[in-house]
Amino acid sequence: MRVAMIGTGYVGLVSGACFSEFGHNVVCVDKDESKIAGLHQGQMPIYEPGLEDLVENNVRAERLTFTTDLTTSVKDSDVIFIAVGTPSRRGDGHADLSYVYAAAKEIADAMDGYTVVVTKSTVPVGTGREVEKIIRETRPDAEFDVVSNPEFLREGSAIEDFMRPDRVVIGTHSERAQEFMRVLYRPLFLIETPIVFTSRQSSELIKYAANTFLAAKITFINEIADLCEKVDADVHDVAKGIGLDGRIGRKFLHPGPGYGGSCFPKDTRALVSTARDSGSPLRIIETVVELNEQRKQKMAERIISAVGGDATGKTIAVLGLTFKPNTDDMRESPSLDIVPALIAAGAKVRAFDPEGMKEAKHMLEGVEWCEEEYETMPDADALVIITEWNQFRALDLERVKSLMMSPVMVDLRNVYEPTEMSNAGFHYYSIGRKSVGPTAQ
Ligand code: UDX
Repeated sequence: MRVAMIGTGYVGLVSGACFSEFGHNVVCVDKDESKIAGLHQGQMPIYEPGLEDLVENNVRAERLTFTTDLTTSVKDSDVIFIAVGTPSRRGDGHADLSYVYAAAKEIADAMDGYTVVVTKSTVPVGTGREVEKIIRETRPDAEFDVVSNPEFLREGSAIEDFMRPDRVVIGTHSERAQEFMRVLYRPLFLIETPIVFTSRQSSELIKYAANTFLAAKITFINEIADLCEKVDADVHDVAKGIGLDGRIGRKFLHPGPGYGGSCFPKDTRALVSTARDSGSPLRIIETVVELNEQRKQKMAERIISAVGGDATGKTIAVLGLTFKPNTDDMRESPSLDIVPALIAAGAKVRAFDPEGMKEAKHMLEGVEWCEEEYETMPDADALVIITEWNQFRALDLERVKSLMMSPVMVDLRNVYEPTEMSNAGFHYYSIGRKSVGPTAQ
């Protein structure tokens, strides 16, 4: 099958590479010439484990190509994916659909023969209908179907999520289009992946409902964590105790500094707007959005109180800046609220992140950037873990202590155990667990 992927961002590039791995001929299209030129030289525009090899293998097998030429790509393809960005519109939180509609118009102009147009971008309910209208108005003669096929890819494990998904959702009632989608996802049918065939609207809503549910689950455990601190309970035990109930499930019950990334913040805001406009507000999700924003500020306050309540002149070492590990993505990362709040409170911040610093340097001012973790620590008044990269999980605690001015760690991801830290001579603050001081030697 011949596939054109319009938009070679995170979702487009991963999906395109994976479809080519399935054996299809895929062309990834993007307007950004430098991105396409880079891809021709094997340079990935994003950091995603396994992606470079996957791209290289499929380019070599001549199943995967990159171009800026949308017209020819669309003309030569059976299935066209729209995988362009849908950022939050300034002001009202609605998803900005201008890129999606512009792509629909360009696709319509170029289509040749029966074509399946698939929206992969996360788009509000009703967008598929609008895309269909645009194509129909531009090309009243064209034979086509518009399908919704949302992605559920987590950054850092996107390839695995694509190759072995929990489910695939396909929104269309057209049997002809369904058949094309079956062929496209054939390797997943073979491993008995559940495939949900549904209407376009339901499919569009499934994506938002899934992400907002997960955001709510994280926010729930974050609030329970705060309560644990007040009543001397341990949030991990609580999470385990409830998560073992099959109706609740153990995943996404890890407390932290608040969710971030390219999806949850944007999708929660967008669904809140859609729901309000539809006259059926989602009060739970409205609260989730508000609590998550407040939480990031509270994390800065927590750090300031760990250095004695006044950060003026204090040196704070920060490990991890990306919104989660194994990505270079800084979008809506809690660090973007926490670090500026520390600096505004008079602290000097030294920071290190294994992959995120290139991006972070454009987004954070006044930070002293370090080459590796221990470089952040000399004479620091506190060490803060914002992102749980594996390399921060086994720090040489003796070395850390000897470098720092005072042995204070604020672990916003609960990477360490309170008893271990106490025995190692630290004042240790984490989330949803008792804060501990050094045990008397
Ligand atoms: C998410 C969805 O998981 C994916 O299905 C969707 O299509 C895109 O959005 P992603 O943003 O890559 O994926 O990251 P994810 O692993 O879901 O984490 C999102 C945020 O939640 C991160 O900031 C993470 O640190 C936080 N999180 C996650 C927690 O704080 N606790 C948890 O238990 C899980």
